Amino acid sequence: MTETKKRTLRSQHWFGGNDKDAFIHRSWMKNQGIPDDAFDGRPVIGICNTWSELTPCNAHFRDLAEAVKRGVLEAGGLPVEFPVMSLGESNLRPTAMLFRNLASMDVEESIRANPLDGVVLLTGCDKTTPALLMGAASVDLPTIVLSGGPMLNGNYRGKPIGSGTDVWKFSEEVRGGRMTQTQFKEAESCMSRSAGHCMTMGTASTMAAMVEALGVALPGNAAIPAVDARRKLQAQMTGRRIVGMVHEDVRLSHVLTRAAFENAIMVNGAIGGSTNAVVHLLAIAGRIGVELTLADWDRLGRDMPCLLNLMPSGQYLMEDFYYAGGLPVVMREMLGKLHGAAFTVTGASVAENVADAENFNPEVIHPLAAPFKDDGGIAVLKGNLAPRGAIIKPSAASPALMRHRGRAVVFDSIEHYKRRIDDPELDIDANSVMVLQNCGPKGYPGMAEVGNMGLPKKLLTQGVTDMVRISDARMSGTAFGTVVLHVAPEAAMGGPLALVRDGDMIELDVPNRRLHLDVDDAELARRKEAWRAPEPAMRGGYQSMYTEHVLQADQGVDLDFLVGCRGSAVPRESH
Ligand code: FES
Ligand code: MG
Repeated sequence: MTETKKRTLRSQHWFGGNDKDAFIHRSWMKNQGIPDDAFDGRPVIGICNTWSELTPCNAHFRDLAEAVKRGVLEAGGLPVEFPVMSLGESNLRPTAMLFRNLASMDVEESIRANPLDGVVLLTGCDKTTPALLMGAASVDLPTIVLSGGPMLNGNYRGKPIGSGTDVWKFSEEVRGGRMTQTQFKEAESCMSRSAGHCMTMGTASTMAAMVEALGVALPGNAAIPAVDARRKLQAQMTGRRIVGMVHEDVRLSHVLTRAAFENAIMVNGAIGGSTNAVVHLLAIAGRIGVELTLADWDRLGRDMPCLLNLMPSGQYLMEDFYYAGGLPVVMREMLGKLHGAAFTVTGASVAENVADAENFNPEVIHPLAAPFKDDGGIAVLKGNLAPRGAIIKPSAASPALMRHRGRAVVFDSIEHYKRRIDDPELDIDANSVMVLQNCGPKGYPGMAEVGNMGLPKKLLTQGVTDMVRISDARMSGTAFGTVVLHVAPEAAMGGPLALVRDGDMIELDVPNRRLHLDVDDAELARRKEAWRAPEPAMRGGYQSMYTEHVLQADQGVDLDFLVGCRGSAVPRESH
């Protein structure tokens, strides 16, 4: 896109002119020591910051914002940093996902209501990336994403350990009697040993890769470690670039096209990305007005090989990924499949952006000709147990369980599961199918990451490492196992998942994309008749609005009234 001539920018509706309103807008800003010429019509760049000490993954963001500001100033813009609700995956209860849409509302309204011409979104921990991009997409100003970067590799007793992934492993080892409590505690500080977000290919790393694949972040965004000097450089370059994007009027809707989403879905397969990307990309697409469905995930993910040998599907971590060349290498390898002409925030196409990428470690990033795993994509299942769909990540599952028929063992809440799972009397064996109900968007509420239920102690001690698990919940992107997730419609709204009883036979057939409850329709109708909706966990407040308006997993779990782009126009003055 060529440089257009100087236009009157949006911020001039606040800062331009000589009337009382312009006086108010400028005068109060000047209390920060901003000179008069900063209001001369240059791009005003908002730096939307999710810094918070309660979001440890984003706790280094004030430094990063300073680097962005340097870049904005160098390019002739006026940087203004503002806070938005921050969502820390590790602390928030009942689940950070409950608040993704709330944060997106904060972002949308903060951007639209303020004198901004362009926005830099500082994102890191899982939900901060989709929340900010959803909010920004509903406004559609020139926008660029900067991820905060992953932590350095964990290291426990001389061995690399991965965020999340090794927590699930260690916790099963403690329960199986193979790790002591003292060792378990020691591992805590070995896992999280620098600033940054989870350094496995969990949801944060996946979403950092998704924004790069979508073309809304500069190439290289996904993998540079948070504490590497080059992360600050990336921040500075992002600051420079957003000013150019304002001059060229490169808006989100120019970048977030259907081709961009298709690229992101394919890249998710190639990196063995988190299942959470499914609901997040569906929600972002809904905001910008791109039609995207679960069927697209299945179609584009089918036969998509996984190139990246990273936990939880593989062995390495994000630091290794960066040293191997990062996401541009993966995307260059995939150019034959991707929409190479898709336009990006650099002003160039995907193919141009990655043309010079070089693979420095084919153990970490496998070539397309010899992939790490054959099936990287997310598989979308359908059947009488999930009429609107469910998903599974084959690359994190056990091949032997991809076709499985077993007896259901049903838990109607996470508390029910916790009470029963280690009961020696529980009638369960390695062939059983564990079913968890009422953990979906309305049911939990917020669709918590509890779908990868731990196995019963008595089976763990026998050496069982995986079983089929089915729920309307999500799972952490750092988790693994033969876990069917996002069943829609969810149990708490009377979906068939609510009607499963102990002893029912369930058939999982991933190659044929089928999830079947072997109970006849008449019996299911009788059970439906007797079904009563569970009591909501809380009445009033945000949670009431959320449960009333939240969409199901197949539609991205956004609030129904937030879908769509409402633009950036605010014709009214405030005084
Ligand atoms: Fe923040 Fe994993 S807890 S990225
Ligand atoms: Mg997570």
